[in-house]
Amino acid sequence: MAACREPEVGAVLEEARRAFHKEFGSEPTLAVSAPGRVNLIGEHTDYNDGLVLPMALELVTVLVGIPRLDGLISLVTTSEYADEPRRVEFPVPTAEQPLEPGIPRWANYVKGVIQHYPAGPLPGFNAVVASSVPLGGGLSSSASLEVATYTFLQQLCPDSGAVTMRAQVCQRAEHSFAGVPCGIMDQLISLSGQKGHALLLDCRSLETCPVPLSDPGVAVLITNSNVRHSLGSSEYPIRRRQCDSAAKALGKKSLREVDMKDLEAGKELLTKEEFRRARHIVGEIQRTSEAAAALSASDYKTFGRLMVESHNSLRDDYEVSCPELDQLVMLALSVPGVYGSRMTGGGFGGCTVTLLEASAATRAMQHIQERYKGTATFYLSKAADGAKVQPL
Ligand code: GLA
Repeated sequence: MAACREPEVGAVLEEARRAFHKEFGSEPTLAVSAPGRVNLIGEHTDYNDGLVLPMALELVTVLVGIPRLDGLISLVTTSEYADEPRRVEFPVPTAEQPLEPGIPRWANYVKGVIQHYPAGPLPGFNAVVASSVPLGGGLSSSASLEVATYTFLQQLCPDSGAVTMRAQVCQRAEHSFAGVPCGIMDQLISLSGQKGHALLLDCRSLETCPVPLSDPGVAVLITNSNVRHSLGSSEYPIRRRQCDSAAKALGKKSLREVDMKDLEAGKELLTKEEFRRARHIVGEIQRTSEAAAALSASDYKTFGRLMVESHNSLRDDYEVSCPELDQLVMLALSVPGVYGSRMTGGGFGGCTVTLLEASAATRAMQHIQERYKGTATFYLSKAADGAKVQPL
């Protein structure tokens, strides 16, 4: 029988609280949560100033803690990281002694946000991190940790920025402390998710527009392939560079400024590979705009068709899919009641997202589980709120 996980924020908070008591011998006074995300459509468009349509998940990362007065920060995680210590201690950064990335790697996301936090002075603190977002599964476990950290720091020392500035701080942390040149989507949705809504994010203006997604007859099924090919980390920056050089060759600031006519007209200026990468981006931005309109009109059939076109384009033109994701999509599409399915996130493993009739969910999970060549894990999540302070 297919396994389906729907963990609650309360359970993750309880785990963090218990670990805090065990590690620090007292009760935490502060608690925050930040969700992971699934992107419904608009893949690899965020760093091209494009459109994306993610929703925040019920899967969350929480931080619980207390301030301390000796200028030290002591962090513990309840997650398993191969060979890495679960506890780390370091001083609050100063101008003379900034924080730097190091070991354990999981703490770099926290350190990066502390280093770039725009208000101060920050006190030291003890904190425990716990999460129900699968690590490295393409559901933004890292962005949820960055955003949870930011939200925790706000409780210690309030900031005065807009939500977009907060997302940019978290994005900078990921660039400089984790070495991943990501776009802004994951951090922005983890901060500003809205229950019952997907969010159309314009990554050029940073405007967000909620699109209702609370029809009880429709479900979003996330299927984790439980594979992660190492190629992903090296290919991501390569795709970014190819997009930038394609835009430059076409005389534009970004591929957001290009339409299919421009692209065809400028074909000779691009390498064959740049052309295919750009064709994915230009098409995907258009699809995302159409998909948001279809979702607003409860036109799930059109939405599903656009999801499949998106997957095919990511597989053939952008070349970021892999056999496991292709198989999961194909299996989902053969189940009656499925509107559409596609890989989601950076690619080279991680998850697929499937839009389907709610009544078809059990059937779909069973069908996929029985035929997938690996072991799949399923999440049926509703669209949830962004980061928040949690009562203790
Ligand atoms: C990763 C990045 C995002 C985005 C997606 C692809 O999740 O963190 O910024 O580029 O890949 O859409």
